[in-house]
Amino acid sequence: MRFRILLKLVAALAVFIAIALVATDFLTRRVVEPQYMAHRWRELEDKARILQLTNLSALADPVRLHEIAQASGTRITLISRDGQVMADSATDISNLDNHARRPEVTEALSGKTGRSIRGSTSTGVERLYLAVPIPQGVLRLSIPLSEIAHDEQEIRMRTMQSAALAFVPVVLIALYLALTTSYRLGSLIAYAGELANGNFHSRLPDYKTGELAILGRKLNETSAKLGRTVQQLQTEHTELEKLERIRKDFVINVSHELRTPLASIQGYTETLMDGAIHDEANNMRFLTIIRHNAERLARLTADLLALSRIEMKTQEFRFAAYRVNELVADILDAIRPIAMKKHIDLKQDPAPQGSEVFCDSEALYQILSNLVDNAVKYTPEYGHITVGVRQVPTSDAPKMIEVFVQDTGMGIPPEDQPRLFERFYRVDKARSRELGGTGLGLAIVKHLVRTHGGEVRVESEMNQGSTFFFTLPVEEVEAHVTEELHPQFTTS
Ligand SMILES: Nc1ncnc2c1ncn2[C@@H]1O[C@H](COP(=O)(O)OP(=O)(O)OP(=O)(O)O)[C@@H](O)[C@H]1O
Ligand SMILES: [Mg+2]
Repeated sequence: MRFRILLKLVAALAVFIAIALVATDFLTRRVVEPQYMAHRWRELEDKARILQLTNLSALADPVRLHEIAQASGTRITLISRDGQVMADSATDISNLDNHARRPEVTEALSGKTGRSIRGSTSTGVERLYLAVPIPQGVLRLSIPLSEIAHDEQEIRMRTMQSAALAFVPVVLIALYLALTTSYRLGSLIAYAGELANGNFHSRLPDYKTGELAILGRKLNETSAKLGRTVQQLQTEHTELEKLERIRKDFVINVSHELRTPLASIQGYTETLMDGAIHDEANNMRFLTIIRHNAERLARLTADLLALSRIEMKTQEFRFAAYRVNELVADILDAIRPIAMKKHIDLKQDPAPQGSEVFCDSEALYQILSNLVDNAVKYTPEYGHITVGVRQVPTSDAPKMIEVFVQDTGMGIPPEDQPRLFERFYRVDKARSRELGGTGLGLAIVKHLVRTHGGEVRVESEMNQGSTFFFTLPVEEVEAHVTEELHPQFTTS
């Protein structure tokens, strides 16, 4: 491509030079040739005038005549008034006829300066004739036309050579410009091709000056913008795909979770209707199963509603400052009976006296009851659960406190820990279901904590126990809390 552009530029340059040379030659011929001709006429006339003034009798001597003709570079002819040639520097006069009718001689005989260009009747060569009157008759000088033609040729050659020489720097500069321009154009075309193929990472070198440099910079800017837009679209596309996958998974999960208790309710209801209602030994057991599954459905729908309310930002929170130890103690008192059923020791590890937390007390109840409920569920009888509060040592605002729920239970495998806070994620599905779990508890915890501007995490060792940590702000931080009160649609 670059080569083609260079070839075109060089061809244009060659055509331009050829036209310039032809024009120069044309002008030389049109202007210089007539001037040179006039100059030669004047020269002949001057020589004739000089000879007019010299001793004309010397011309009668053939040797002198020959010498003078040689010196003046002309052929000299002396013609009498009646047209007889008296002397001629180039030809034997006995061979010459009467010259009275030669146009230049006729003119000179009438007292004027005669001129003619014609072929010599004696030599046959085309010549320039100039005749002037002298007392004896006519003095005629002539030169061959070929001499003038030769001189003119010489002048044209010289002019052309000078013009060609003058073009050398022009050609060099033009070649340099053609080379750089074709190189830059080639780069621009190649770059545009890269853009068309979707490669927005390559950049053109900055040529600093000229229109092509501006074009290059504009293309670079366009490429950068396109690259950013494509990148953004790709990210958004990936995000949308991810959300779509999550949505589908969610629908599948919800349907699955609903199907099992519904199928059970349907099955046992039909069994009872088919006569088992009168079966004293089993009817109460069947009804208990139906109630158990109905409760499970109620829990599931309640949890789903809670999650959706947080996500749709329709749940109202009443944030306020609370003494954290008192709040946690009240919540633990409410949950303690559940722990006691499994003889689990539920301890509180308080924060320094007077520590405050800025939260919605209902939400904190939900968070802690979910975590303690899990701890109780997944800790064997006579285990230990500690709920503690401590200040997060940080100089950055906002100040936070950290609440943790530590148990001595079965622990969570490391590979499950990253997905634990996803909706419906359960380490042991069957076991969780058996214990009445919906798999939504930790997802609710995560959303509630985030609504407060905090974070939740887990540390666990198999068969040693697990500790769930979450942070909450110590005091109201306007901007922070406002932002967190409007959470984005989340993926888990
Ligand atoms: N303290 C814990 N020790 C061991 N495993 C736990 C603990 N807490 C949670 N898990 C695991 O994490 C899973 C998800 O917990 P999550 O609270 O979300 O659901 P769930 O307890 O099964 O049901 P529910 O929605 O009724 O709380 C549980 O099924 C369990 O496998
Ligand atoms: Mg739970």
